[in-house]
Amino acid sequence: MTALAHQAAIPGGQPRRRDLGDPSFWELPHSERAQAFAFLRRLDEPQYFVERPKSKWRPERGFHALVKHADVVEASRTPQVFASAPGATTPEPARWVRALFGDSLVNVDGPHHTQLRRIVSRAFTPRILSRTEADIGAVATRIVDDVLAERPDDFVGAVASRMPFEVICNLMGIPDRERPAILAQVNRASGDTGVHRSARSRFRVPGKGLRALASMQGMVADLGRERRKNPTDDLISALVNADIDGQALTGRQLGSFFSLLMVAGVETTRNAIAHGLDLLTRHPEQRALLVEDFDRFAEGATEEIVRHSTPIIQFRRTLTQDHRMNGHDFRRGDKVVLFYASANRDETVFPDPDAFDITRTPNPHVGYGGGGPHYCLGTYLAKQEMKALFRELLTRSPGLHATEAPVLVPSSFDNRVRSLRCAYTGTGTGTGTGTGTLAGDGGQDHARGGA
Ligand code: HEM
Repeated sequence: MTALAHQAAIPGGQPRRRDLGDPSFWELPHSERAQAFAFLRRLDEPQYFVERPKSKWRPERGFHALVKHADVVEASRTPQVFASAPGATTPEPARWVRALFGDSLVNVDGPHHTQLRRIVSRAFTPRILSRTEADIGAVATRIVDDVLAERPDDFVGAVASRMPFEVICNLMGIPDRERPAILAQVNRASGDTGVHRSARSRFRVPGKGLRALASMQGMVADLGRERRKNPTDDLISALVNADIDGQALTGRQLGSFFSLLMVAGVETTRNAIAHGLDLLTRHPEQRALLVEDFDRFAEGATEEIVRHSTPIIQFRRTLTQDHRMNGHDFRRGDKVVLFYASANRDETVFPDPDAFDITRTPNPHVGYGGGGPHYCLGTYLAKQEMKALFRELLTRSPGLHATEAPVLVPSSFDNRVRSLRCAYTGTGTGTGTGTGTLAGDGGQDHARGGA
């Protein structure tokens, strides 16, 4: 199937040259992209082939787009055929990016992946997680204290990005004095890393981003060396000191894991939180349900926010052998891109898929991956962060609401929110952490239509 066939996927069927591999597709409004994916899911061909624009700079083969829920799940759970090496991101990361993220968890398979994942899973043991849970509540309280005092008008900078950054830094034991420099470097790096940034950025020459990432990794590797000599009770110490099997991360692996956490754990959660406020503002009846009985609906709300917004749009796999899946023949070396954003709107799995419904049951979304060995390690943490923050916000600042549509960064990789303007109606309570049941609901004056 050629890019031409995809023209029909564009609402109205105008002959515009738009394709999933074309950066301009990712600048279309979400609703148009969703319609295009709905069209692709209905095609008789189970997979849609996306040709790469020809470029002498980056001669790459095209990829098969997996757009149906069943295909995304099956590919995720058949890692011996659908491998993550040599890289799980598309477009193909530049060589300098591979040098920095090369042995990152997401890009490796088999025993190497199992070994790395076992070491980094130390971040998520019940002991560490129970300590982190108390910490997450405290971070949420501090952020909402500041919101009430300062009434910021950009939700992303003041709230959504602060929450996961603080939590990850606490988890890793990053000293307070190092945090502003790390945050500045993360922001600088996310401006031009080809791995996760907009499709256009692959043409950029690495500059500040490379230096920022290298410097951040160097800083964390130094901390690792320090903790090897003087271990404390934090995660860096647990990662760099050998366990009973003699396993530990090297300094380079530690730096690479920290960069992964900054992208996988901070940006994803920040985007989910920002989309969450937008969705709750646009759907006052859903917000009212959550406010009425937070404990009952919080789990469903966090799942539905992740399904509906799908913070990570896609990851890629490479075929290790010829393989037939759901009536389609793949060849060894073929690339397939797992479009979680499309699978999460698959009408054969989710009735009324465009609706935002926090009571949706079951909700087998693939926002954290389709299962298999790479399934998101931070699911529990992400949910805890979202619950703690929305509990505090809806209790203590019930009038907080989005006033405009979120400003998105065009990207084929993540559903990234650059900024989200917000305002406050009524008054906040100012003190105390949230309790089980919430009362009062502002934010119903947000007059924007559409799902
Ligand atoms: C709403 C928030 C989040 C979303 C939507 C999300 C989504 C994802 C997705 C789609 C994957 C790839 C799954 C696959 O390939 O099968 C992934 C992997 C991963 N995530 Fe998350 N994530 C979130 C939060 C977090 C957090 C908070 C952390 C850590 C603190 C985290 C750590 C990771 C790691 C380490 C991997 C790689 C696992 C591996 O390759 O073995 N994520 N995540």
